[in-house]
Amino acid sequence: MTAVDPGLELKNLGKARSTGPSVQDLLEADTRTVPVSLKDHSYELQGIADVPKSRYTSHAFAALENEFMWTKTWQMACTVDELAQPGDHVVYDVADQSLIVTRTKDGSIKAYHNSCLHRGTKLRVDDGRVASFRCPFHGWRWDLDGELVELPAEWDFPQVWQQADSCLPQAQVAQWCGFVFVNLDPDATAFEQVAGKLVEHFGRDFDMSNRYKAFHAVKEVPANWKVVMEAFAEGYHVIATHPQILEFAGDANSEYSIWSESPFVTRFVNGFGLQSPHLGNLTEQQVADAYLAFSARAARGAVEVPEGSTARAVVADVFRSVMGPLYGKDLSQISDSEMLDAHLYHLFPAFAPWAGTGQSLVYRWRPGPTPDTCFMDVIRMMPVPEGKDRPAVAPIQRLQLEQKWTEAVGMSGLADVFEQDMANLPKVQLGLKMTAKRAKKGVSFGVYQEARMRLIHRHIDNCILEGLAAEGRSADELTPFVMPQG
Ligand code: FES
Ligand SMILES: [Fe+2]
Repeated sequence: MTAVDPGLELKNLGKARSTGPSVQDLLEADTRTVPVSLKDHSYELQGIADVPKSRYTSHAFAALENEFMWTKTWQMACTVDELAQPGDHVVYDVADQSLIVTRTKDGSIKAYHNSCLHRGTKLRVDDGRVASFRCPFHGWRWDLDGELVELPAEWDFPQVWQQADSCLPQAQVAQWCGFVFVNLDPDATAFEQVAGKLVEHFGRDFDMSNRYKAFHAVKEVPANWKVVMEAFAEGYHVIATHPQILEFAGDANSEYSIWSESPFVTRFVNGFGLQSPHLGNLTEQQVADAYLAFSARAARGAVEVPEGSTARAVVADVFRSVMGPLYGKDLSQISDSEMLDAHLYHLFPAFAPWAGTGQSLVYRWRPGPTPDTCFMDVIRMMPVPEGKDRPAVAPIQRLQLEQKWTEAVGMSGLADVFEQDMANLPKVQLGLKMTAKRAKKGVSFGVYQEARMRLIHRHIDNCILEGLAAEGRSADELTPFVMPQG
């Protein structure tokens, strides 16, 4: 390790970047017009202090998250397509909460607390279509508008039958880009405001509206939800975890955006079709060859990179020609960046859609029954081919803890890359649990590449602090786990 001048380092904190072209440099060199939103980049220093490991392992901290964070944030519950007809419903379970998200007779979408008002039974366990919601225990029944319409032996419940609040309680609902979002907090800030940059950027530049769910798998993963989410939030791990893509991935020179005016949305852009700064110089032809040999989109095999052109320009053209027919769209004017790069947005707490015409992936994370597991959803939203009927929604494939992503039908080459990530995660969780006297107590995030994680952790703490204060409880409950400010 080279010695650094501490004074100089502190003055330049947050300014250091990898060698190699930046994402903004790549956009400058794009062969097509680049969406304005991709040029909208900003970063703010989030501090350097270590982050307590216990935030990932403690049952007490997970309980605070469950009580005060998952109950107060906007979360993607399902796609609008899954609620095509009145009575269609999806059960959205998160932490200790459960909602029935359904289409009512007048066509609106509502989210009901999934707990019987008699003795608490979960009303629906499975998704499906019903005419009303009938409790399996004693048969209390609510119509699609959430009104109590049947109560066996009603003579015995005068106190309930006459109550105005015999309706099922509701959560807030919002729709965006074909997704249904829910928020259990009746006083929550409107979705559009919380999702500021997401709404702005997608509304202006990334038309994801006419898409359908072509693939959906959810898997229980043996690590805390934040560990898993953070494993998909940086390109820093590519050198050790996915070395097979270094010849054509700009990993260390990825871009991470944090916008002060829209603090709940962040973005990670990983450029593709250029070599990693970690490697010695490759030719453009070598980069293109490696990329095309790897990519499932490269049906045509090797392609020559003409003198003066770049691997990015050539591979983007290959992808346009392969994906145009697949998407049923003319992609000839779509930017190289949209065809090649990974633009992964993140809406706090745990919704991450890839942006761009050439992209279709969406990720979601939810906590598991203990702090040591979580659920990760992988969804593919494909464009409805022009002039064709809307294809049917793909069923959800549920993978158990011990199953592999490669067992999901239709996940293709992505599953192999995911398995490389999965191999790390139980090791991370186990290492985080080491609390012996001389064990390191915190994790050390990169000042730039992992800054978004600090911000997300701060949002979690803010939810918890607000919740504790609202209940008249002491902020000391958070103190052992609190995210340092510096
Ligand atoms: S618990 Fe639902 S009707 Fe009794
Ligand atoms: Fe990865």
